[in-house]
Amino acid sequence: MINEEKAVQDFFEIIDTKVLRKIIDEFYLKSSYIHGTPHWSRVFYYGHTLSNHSNFDKEIIAYFSLFHDSKRFNDHEDPEHGLRGAEFFRSLDKIIYVSAEQKEIIYEACKVHNYLKQSDNLEVGMCLDSDRLDLWRVGIKPSNDYLHIDLSKTEKMKNTSLYYVQNNPNYTILSDRIIRSVYDIEQEKPYNNSILSKIKNQFKFKF
Ligand SMILES: [Fe+2]
Ligand SMILES: [Fe+2]
Repeated sequence: MINEEKAVQDFFEIIDTKVLRKIIDEFYLKSSYIHGTPHWSRVFYYGHTLSNHSNFDKEIIAYFSLFHDSKRFNDHEDPEHGLRGAEFFRSLDKIIYVSAEQKEIIYEACKVHNYLKQSDNLEVGMCLDSDRLDLWRVGIKPSNDYLHIDLSKTEKMKNTSLYYVQNNPNYTILSDRIIRSVYDIEQEKPYNNSILSKIKNQFKFKF
């Protein structure tokens, strides 16, 4: 159901490494599998799948997946993190090339994602669904009361997200590629020792 290879390809056609470096540089929770890059990448996978079925905007889900938890201070209570992520997204205006309408939706989705039960805007709803489909990682089954898109509410989609979380809670191909692009490690090359130890101190990924 998830086309991981195509999702990775589309992601890097949308997102510039400059933006990734800025986000990762400033991110407090590099080692978190709950709110770090493995989660962000799965959020993009789910949104990518929803957009393939309903023609949602892949640029919106790509930026939402990266920014929505980018300013979390901890893995527990942090009620302002959505707003901080939205403001951070807005502050990078000069290096993010999307339309004014897309910016509004991405900003709104980041801002409300941690407190709004239902949005009237389906593009915002698609973002919230993508985040909520990954609730399995903290042992919570996504509830239809908090989902928007018909496909998100199906057992098939929920089982798909459960499968991804169970199989690789702290690694996806996309999270690996994000780290490689930020630290300039070519895909074909193994991580060399100095880079590996530098990264391993910050990220708890499989290598
Ligand atoms: Fe969040
Ligand atoms: Fe999230």
